[in-house]
Amino acid sequence: MELINSLDELRQKIREHKQQGKTVALVPTMGNLHEGHVTLAREAKKVADIAVASIFVNPTQFGANEDLDSYPRTLEADSEKLAAAGLDILFTPSVETMYPNGLEMQASVIVPGLSEELCGASRPGHFTGVATVVSKLFNLFQPDIALFGEKDFQQLMVIKRFAKELAFPIDIIGVPTVREESGLAMSSRNGYLTAEEKQKAALIYQTLKLAKEDIEKPGFKVEEKSIHSLCDHAQMYLTENGFDPEYFTLRRAEDLAVPVATDKELVILVAAQLGGARLIDNITLSRAG
Ligand code: PAF
Repeated sequence: MELINSLDELRQKIREHKQQGKTVALVPTMGNLHEGHVTLAREAKKVADIAVASIFVNPTQFGANEDLDSYPRTLEADSEKLAAAGLDILFTPSVETMYPNGLEMQASVIVPGLSEELCGASRPGHFTGVATVVSKLFNLFQPDIALFGEKDFQQLMVIKRFAKELAFPIDIIGVPTVREESGLAMSSRNGYLTAEEKQKAALIYQTLKLAKEDIEKPGFKVEEKSIHSLCDHAQMYLTENGFDPEYFTLRRAEDLAVPVATDKELVILVAAQLGGARLIDNITLSRAG
């Protein structure tokens, strides 16, 4: 695996591969890699000739009181994992390389509406930071395919939307969430949990599964009253168990709009604080009929 940290060298390498007619699949990451990322890397290797990844802790997607400084930087262990997964190129730029004019003067990619709700409501500017850095990575790598975990469902929607609306010729693939045996979605931020909290955190997925079962029952009506009642119950249950839920909500899977009775493909999304970790997760479901 080649380690690259300059834009020119990256562009040159990508050009060489493209001239030979090779296809490129990109896995953007912020490092501190777990099995979820490794799955993305393995998948990238399956779907293209050249599998490439980036590790960049992107400052523009962190809020003022968030964990930018303490976010774990584990480059050595990360590169070993990616090399073992068969990656061809790993790009590890500095903040100055990615934002040469400083963070304030950077042009940005804004996805209106979708970026401002759910996680975007409590993390203003977060999805603009994500969309901006991912679009820059798309321009640098010129990938045919880019892979993202479905755990960050809203992020995946934001990326799919700007890629379509800004005409990036890239196939954006969502890869199913990788879970611990307990059901807890793998996340770099799980490292902020104590052993006891980590056990408890599995309740998030259990709550999602129970809600899914209820919504899939033929008698469940996809309408404001029943959705509210179900989501309120789930939030109360999480609160009683020591979580501080931010949202627990049912949405249309296609665009995260509030669903109506005729919508069939749905997603339940949750965000909750537990100890020092803000956890997010989701589950998709299809309504019969
Ligand atoms: O999901 C992440 O790790 C980040 O948000 C991403 C997509 C690499 C952009 O910085």
